[in-house]
Amino acid sequence: MSKIEKALQKAMENRGSQQHLEPAKQTKDVESTESRAEEYKALLEVAKEIDPAGVDKHVVCVTDPYSLVAEQYKRLRAKIIRDTAKDNRNIIMVSSANMSEGKSITSANLAVSIAQELDHTVLLVDADLRRPSLHKYFGINPQYGLSEYLQGTKELSEVLIKTGVGKLVFLPAGQPPENPSELLASARMRDLIKEMKNRYKDRYVILDSSPILVTADAIALSRNMDGLVFVVQSDNTHKKDAVKALNMIKGTPVIGIVMNDVPEYLSNEKDDYSSYRYGSYIKSSAA
Ligand SMILES: Nc1ncnc2c1ncn2[C@@H]1O[C@H](COP(=O)(O)OP(=O)(O)OP(=O)(O)O)[C@@H](O)[C@H]1O
Ligand SMILES: [Mg+2]
Repeated sequence: MSKIEKALQKAMENRGSQQHLEPAKQTKDVESTESRAEEYKALLEVAKEIDPAGVDKHVVCVTDPYSLVAEQYKRLRAKIIRDTAKDNRNIIMVSSANMSEGKSITSANLAVSIAQELDHTVLLVDADLRRPSLHKYFGINPQYGLSEYLQGTKELSEVLIKTGVGKLVFLPAGQPPENPSELLASARMRDLIKEMKNRYKDRYVILDSSPILVTADAIALSRNMDGLVFVVQSDNTHKKDAVKALNMIKGTPVIGIVMNDVPEYLSNEKDDYSSYRYGSYIKSSAA
């Protein structure tokens, strides 16, 4: 059994054991009461599943899975699975040149979409350690995540969240660390990715990242990736920024380009999109 499978199993065992924990007030020893309370809190975090009612409306693959916008993510999913499955390129990073271009929304929708299609575990990792947002889009507030795992203060079983959305497992970012680039470039991160890659050959790991032009974090992360889904925000991303960003991580093959937030008047399917104020449009891609 892989490290991740063991961690998930442990998380579920922990979940089952919650009911055996004594209420804190029945313990006389104050110190152990506090540590048990911490332990209990951590177990609750692991056990938490996502409430679809709390999911942000832009995560359309959860909130409106049969919509035309969700359909665009299914097209991206189909292309990625087609191009990567045969040679096990299953570790995929989502990034963009600058901030707020739609990386996190794309990561969330892509991961949910793959989890809905395949009867496998899909792992969604919030690897934007500075400005994590995936947990907010899923309407949850986990205390710990990748940051604590990489710093060695938490085990994987304590930070993985079974979402209840297909077989999607979520690894949140945790508390912003002082040294995100170093953590993302660390041997522990490399080993985690290697473990995921070798043990989860037919499963996908989608990593949300920070913008390529703003910090060194995405570049550090990209070294261990099989492929990049590059997000471009229609009307906002300058061509020179996109080219510069892609040059900065040219060692990582581009497996998809997402044109996000396409105005309706630019869409070929204007009428189909007329009920949406937003859209994601997979404009082009290169293997
Ligand atoms: N297609 C879209 N239509 C409308 N709003 C969108 C769309 N995609 C993203 N947004 C909104 O734009 C904002 C930024 O999106 P998102 O968090 O996905 O970007 P990001 O690139 O991950 O940002 P950051 O660089 O801060 O990590 C959010 O408020 C999100 O709801
Ligand atoms: Mg983001």
